[in-house]
Amino acid sequence: MEITSFNPTRRTLMGPGPSDVSERVLSAMSRPTLGHLDPEFIQMMDELKVLLQYTFQTENPLTFAVSAPGSAGMECCFANLVEPGDKVIICQNGVFGGRMKENVQRCGGVAVMVEDDWGRAVDAQKLQDALTEHPDACLVAFVHAETSTGAQSDAKTLVELAHQHDCLTIVDAVTSLAGTPLKVDEWGIDAIYSGSQKCLSAPPGLSPVSFNDRAAEKIRKRTTPVQSWFLDLNLVMGYWGGDGKRAYHHTAPVNGLYALHEALLVVREEGLENAWDRHYRNHLLLREGLQGLGIDFVVDEADRLPQLNAVTIPAGVNDAEVRGRLLNEFNLEIGAGLGALAGKVWRIGLMGHASSTQNVEFCLRALGEVLD
Ligand SMILES: Cc1ncc(COP(=O)(O)O)c(C=O)c1O
Repeated sequence: MEITSFNPTRRTLMGPGPSDVSERVLSAMSRPTLGHLDPEFIQMMDELKVLLQYTFQTENPLTFAVSAPGSAGMECCFANLVEPGDKVIICQNGVFGGRMKENVQRCGGVAVMVEDDWGRAVDAQKLQDALTEHPDACLVAFVHAETSTGAQSDAKTLVELAHQHDCLTIVDAVTSLAGTPLKVDEWGIDAIYSGSQKCLSAPPGLSPVSFNDRAAEKIRKRTTPVQSWFLDLNLVMGYWGGDGKRAYHHTAPVNGLYALHEALLVVREEGLENAWDRHYRNHLLLREGLQGLGIDFVVDEADRLPQLNAVTIPAGVNDAEVRGRLLNEFNLEIGAGLGALAGKVWRIGLMGHASSTQNVEFCLRALGEVLD
């Protein structure tokens, strides 16, 4: 087998992530690699923290990027906040809530599941009932933007309910961050994780996280060690900590962090509100075009995510064939259904850099031609 340099085809990524990465961010990534304790690099990390705080809308000092994808951010939150025996209420309305349950159980916790139909937002009344039924619960976890279904839940209300019952909250914002309104401090979210590859449009492989003081205190007061060495925040903070002293913990993905820094700068330059607004406007444009093609949404209008549009595959249409033709003839990726929705829906992402009028028009034209 002859192996030469890998030169991928340029695609338009309109699936559930990764989203398209701009030339500007890609070129930031190709700058010279520095040592991970180099003073210049450390200054860049300090800036990265400020940019993440802006994007999360928080002043939490414990805000940084875990050196691994969104699943590691998820695991970081659960591994640090769940101790053996802790009861955690998990609201599940799609694939990713199921992973939260796995995490709790692997940390030795007890998961209490509050189930909602896939494609619906989390029902606040069901959470209220579960909190009343389980006064010994100490944590509530849910997914803000369920990528598997395209449904958005009311994070502010769910966090308020959890706090009324003295529970801390873990929120999955992998798909919501920078795509839809999210206000960590104003809504009182205690621990949150996201991913670099969705509405931030940085390359995959990094997971921004943030913990408020109450979450940090629970971690400090643990009576058992965090079972993951790599994700133990007490150790990680020796590297990311704000006290000016940085000690080796692991070799940071230096160039990936340059890319995240640049992507966050792009978000700040546009302004978060403008980014949220752009995602919403492009969603409306896509909705209008899909209606013209006779394609319906899975999620009720009030709960739809603008950045992830789950639509029902029209009757008689071959799912794999359509996606295959879009990829091969148009270099356009849209997403297949996941879990219970596999084969039934397409997931059209309008995330970050990929959320543009041109992409909406391109996708509608390509889909129209293929369906014809
Ligand atoms: C809501 C949600 N949570 C968690 C993850 C896991 O992130 P990653 O694939 O970066 O590990 C994803 C990925 O798509 C996601 O959409």
